[in-house]
Amino acid sequence: MLRLSFFISLMCLVRSDTDEECPSFTKLSFHSAVVGTGLNVKLMLYTRRNPTCAQAINSTALGNLNVTKKTTFIVHGFRPTGSPPVWIGDLVEGLLSVEDMNVVVVDWNRGATTVIYNHASNKTRKVAIVLKEFIDQMLAGEASLDDIYMIGVSLGAHIAGFVGKMYDGQLGRITGLDPAGPLFNGKPPEDRLDPGDAQFIDVIHSDIDALGYKEPLGNIDFYPNGGLDQPGCPQTILGGMQYFKCDHQRSVYLYLSSLRENCTITAYPCDSYRDYRNGKCVSCGTPQTQSCPILGYYADNWKDYLREKDPPMTKAFFDTAEEKPFCIYHYFVDIITWNKNIRRGSITIKLRDKAGSTTESKINHEPATFQKYHQVSLLARFNQDLDKVAAISLEFSTGSVIGPKYKLRILRMKLRSLAHPERPQLCRYDLVLMENVETVFQPILCSKLQM
Ligand SMILES: *[C@@H]1O[C@H](CO)[C@@H](O)[C@H](O)[C@H]1NC(C)=O
Ligand SMILES: *[C@@H]1O[C@H](CO)[C@@H](O)[C@H](O)[C@H]1NC(C)=O
Ligand SMILES: *[C@@H]1O[C@H](CO)[C@@H](O)[C@H](O)[C@H]1NC(C)=O
Ligand SMILES: *[C@@H]1O[C@H](CO)[C@@H](O)[C@H](O)[C@H]1NC(C)=O
Repeated sequence: MLRLSFFISLMCLVRSDTDEECPSFTKLSFHSAVVGTGLNVKLMLYTRRNPTCAQAINSTALGNLNVTKKTTFIVHGFRPTGSPPVWIGDLVEGLLSVEDMNVVVVDWNRGATTVIYNHASNKTRKVAIVLKEFIDQMLAGEASLDDIYMIGVSLGAHIAGFVGKMYDGQLGRITGLDPAGPLFNGKPPEDRLDPGDAQFIDVIHSDIDALGYKEPLGNIDFYPNGGLDQPGCPQTILGGMQYFKCDHQRSVYLYLSSLRENCTITAYPCDSYRDYRNGKCVSCGTPQTQSCPILGYYADNWKDYLREKDPPMTKAFFDTAEEKPFCIYHYFVDIITWNKNIRRGSITIKLRDKAGSTTESKINHEPATFQKYHQVSLLARFNQDLDKVAAISLEFSTGSVIGPKYKLRILRMKLRSLAHPERPQLCRYDLVLMENVETVFQPILCSKLQM
């Protein structure tokens, strides 16, 4: 008996030991959010030596942190309910999977947790000062500012900016994931994230009409789906909490998808979302990747190119699918018509491959104008990239329910992939579309003589 109880108490001892060895992100209740919390910044280090069990570190105890490697800080934002951010674990794991680095989770949940946004926002500079003290110790240990990377979410993006300002913009890189808008919109550069805060700054804006910051803040500012409403997010308050945070959080999920190997999201530098949708900004030169950067972790491959611009700020647009991995595939549908009169309307195009997979694109953001013998190039966006297209269907609509049904007389339609310009272009000649009737046909290879 004695031995057994000894054994049990030993087990308990071991248990409580490991609990202490793996500190976890501060969990608070909604009650804390109501009464408010004082600031307490905890730093948790993950490396490939301890990828799942964090080490508590501070400016006097750097733990496994190897200053000769890149160090990525993850800084969260406002926490109105006190819960830990759901994406933290995936982000740590994703970063360690792509590079052997130090990942430091900056847990300022005590401080960020409050129902009053102003109170959290007021603590951002204090968090930045704690991080500065820590980084100063790393520098004393021969770390280089070039190797310091901060990923800031919402208020965290401005915190990263404040740290960067204290080092006169010499930090290696800052990524702002939907930087907070309220209380920051319209503020001067010293009071928010600014392109001068690091050697390279990339920003994803996914909720510019509510929680996010509208104007560009970095060397490159990505606006998925125009930066407003994200596909797959609830459009009404009936969606519950998701209605408030889904668009805002999408920036994090888009970034996360860049750490996985599934697909890369190409963004198109452009003056406006409308111009992008109208296909005006999608020529990236050859190789395609020259002037069209990709979103996320590898965006800094375009650092030199983007910083050379005057001013060194670029806006880039792209659309996404509703769910991960979020990629969509761009094609041009070139149409030449021969109707006597001008026709205006939208086109829906479906592709089917030999295996029977189908994918659809509605090109209806604004009516296309078809004029006799003029080529119209429509940007089609598909969720799937079907390599061997066996059948295409087209449907033309003027959008009017009453009135006569129109025909669209197509002299030639051509389908070409933007991501794979080397793929054979598919054509169909002499085709009449009856309004609102789906017309299915087998495409043929475009003849080389006709352009
Ligand atoms: C730093 O961390 C070490 C190890 O966790 C701890 O013993 C020490 O008290 C901490 N120092 C401060 C100033 O928090
Ligand atoms: C720190 O990282 C460098 C390579 O970046 C490596 O050569 C060195 O052994 C590491 N130090 C420790 C203590 O792991
Ligand atoms: C935030 O800080 C400013 C000055 O630093 C102060 O005037 C203001 O009352 C604070 N707001 C809140 C909500 O704490
Ligand atoms: C790729 O995406 C699919 C879902 O589309 C997912 O199930 C799979 O785990 C992903 N693969 C990797 C390597 O991330």
